[in-house]
Amino acid sequence: MSVRYKITLGLLVILLASYVVLGLLTSTYVNKTFVKEVQTRVRLDLIAADDIYNSYFEQIEEILMISSIRRTSVAPLKEEMGRELGEVFSNIYKNSELDFLTFTDLDGNVIYRVHNPEAKGDNISEVDLIRKVLDEWVPVSGTTILDETILKNEGKELQERAIVNVKSTPKARPEVKTTEKRGMVIASAVPINSLNGDKLGVIFGGLLINNNIEIVDRIKTKVFQDQTHNGKDIGTATVFFDDVRISTNVRQTDNTRAVGSRLSLEVYEHVIQNGKIWADRAFVVNDWYITAYEPIRDIEGNIIGSLYVGLLEQPFKQPQKIILVFFIITLSITAVASFSLMFFYTRMMIKPIDSVVRVSKEIMKGNLSARCNLQTKGEMGLLCKTINQMAEAIEQHEKQMKEDTQRQILQSEKLASIGRLAAGVAHEINNPLTGVLTFSHLLKERSNEEDVIKDLDVIIQETKRVREIVRNLLEFARQSPPNKESINLNEIVRQLLKLVTSQKEFRKIKLEETYDANLPEVLVDKNQIQQVFLNLLLNAGEAIVEEGKITISTTHNEENIQVAISDSGCGIADEEMDKIFDPFYTTKPVGQGTGLGLSISYGIIQQHHGTIHCESKVGTGTTFTVLLPYTSDTR
Ligand SMILES: Nc1ncnc2c1ncn2[C@@H]1O[C@H](COP(=O)(O)OP(=O)(O)O)[C@@H](O)[C@H]1O
Ligand SMILES: [Mg+2]
Repeated sequence: MSVRYKITLGLLVILLASYVVLGLLTSTYVNKTFVKEVQTRVRLDLIAADDIYNSYFEQIEEILMISSIRRTSVAPLKEEMGRELGEVFSNIYKNSELDFLTFTDLDGNVIYRVHNPEAKGDNISEVDLIRKVLDEWVPVSGTTILDETILKNEGKELQERAIVNVKSTPKARPEVKTTEKRGMVIASAVPINSLNGDKLGVIFGGLLINNNIEIVDRIKTKVFQDQTHNGKDIGTATVFFDDVRISTNVRQTDNTRAVGSRLSLEVYEHVIQNGKIWADRAFVVNDWYITAYEPIRDIEGNIIGSLYVGLLEQPFKQPQKIILVFFIITLSITAVASFSLMFFYTRMMIKPIDSVVRVSKEIMKGNLSARCNLQTKGEMGLLCKTINQMAEAIEQHEKQMKEDTQRQILQSEKLASIGRLAAGVAHEINNPLTGVLTFSHLLKERSNEEDVIKDLDVIIQETKRVREIVRNLLEFARQSPPNKESINLNEIVRQLLKLVTSQKEFRKIKLEETYDANLPEVLVDKNQIQQVFLNLLLNAGEAIVEEGKITISTTHNEENIQVAISDSGCGIADEEMDKIFDPFYTTKPVGQGTGLGLSISYGIIQQHHGTIHCESKVGTGTTFTVLLPYTSDTR
């Protein structure tokens, strides 16, 4: 995979990851805010529902109060009831839509049931409301529970209406019973006094909540304005008796009211057992609702049921969904856009790298003049520039090397041809010279004249000098292969120094020697190598006019042994540098230099596969460096 794709892909992964995180955060946030908002609303709705529920108490109490006032003058009640008074109450009962209206005496025995006049005489003082009126003689209203017998006495139809078949409901607490026959009622009990203040009895009346639709639908209408969503009521209300739905407008799938289904265990524990208000989303019967539950207590404060309101979640989810969809679309568009941008951007960024690769390949193929032509700024520009500089350096180096080899070839050719010439000439000169010397000696022996002998000595001396030169020439020209032996160069240099420093010219010269203690032995022709270093030492000594210093050091690396001889002498001018290895090149006065020392040394080192190199600065000094390979393959 190319760098470009890698970078693009990497960036894309980062981008998408951050989008996912952002998306999750946003949706969680939106969801939370939304849920909070709706919860607040549903809590308020619950308060409103509670008000409506409580308004029934007042309503019923009011009716009973009116009834009690009407008949307080009549006594005894028992007899009155049988006659036209019963009819009056019947009318009240019918018009008020109460489910039951009952009168008891001061012991709680039923005197008269408007709905079922035949059933009387039973004692209902166990009903908490009646008990309280009898005890405290004040009107009381509240939610209470009537057992099956009382309901039956109040009328068969009431008893039947109270029956709720408890349905098994997932998540509800384990079932306790299958049928609920007791009735939960909103009721009031009011004392009846005679005109002169005698206690006569109690009126007890109320509404059965079981299967009642009026209360919950009134809540729905008043609190939720009967709003619907896709034909479903948005707002719903329920009254639970214990954990059983006994009155509700939550619908089942077949659109019947979900009477008989039960509260989830979680809510049951929270509301019925712990008496707290519950407000959260919940799955009610077959849909998600934002719900609120509060406990319903009897007059003693015991929790006997719960009042519920719920808002269908769906319609509130809608705007949330739209926001999310919008968010996702925006993200997708920006993702596509940034991906394309990134794709082009990386191409732009990678371009210099491509170029660098191309140039490197060109250089490897041998095209040293290849260059990056991009005018980019920043790191990439720097990269291109560096690559160009590298190419430049390689090219320069190559050129330098070519020139050097060229020069070396020239030099050795020059030496070789001069060597051949010298060999020829030397032979020719040697014989006459021997003649000259022999006859000069003979003449000297024969002669008695001082002057003549003196001149002859000059001839002999000069001829010897010439012979010396010729011998050197022959030496130089000799092509015989070196006679090699393994030698430690430190030793050779030490011996030579002893020899050289005994001469008077070297007395004023300071010597500094550094020897590589681990110098490997090297396979060389001892005589020839001695000659090389002798030449270099003599040259160094001759370069120093008065006082000075000569530094000799030996070192080695993996391949070569290096011997460096430095002097603090006169130095060599740049324009002379090219010529010093030429045969017969000398700057020394006639009679002192032959100009052969360096050229011979050059030839010897070359034959040993080594190099000799000179660095110099006029007035500062000169360093000659000899490199000799000691590894086996070059021996
Ligand atoms: N160490 C040195 N310092 C300065 N010049 C040098 C040195 N060695 C060699 N040269 C120069 O190189 C020339 C050639 O040296 P060489 O071949 O030994 O011949 P010669 O010593 O006979 O002149 C010398 O004449 C001198 O000008
Ligand atoms: Mg010399």
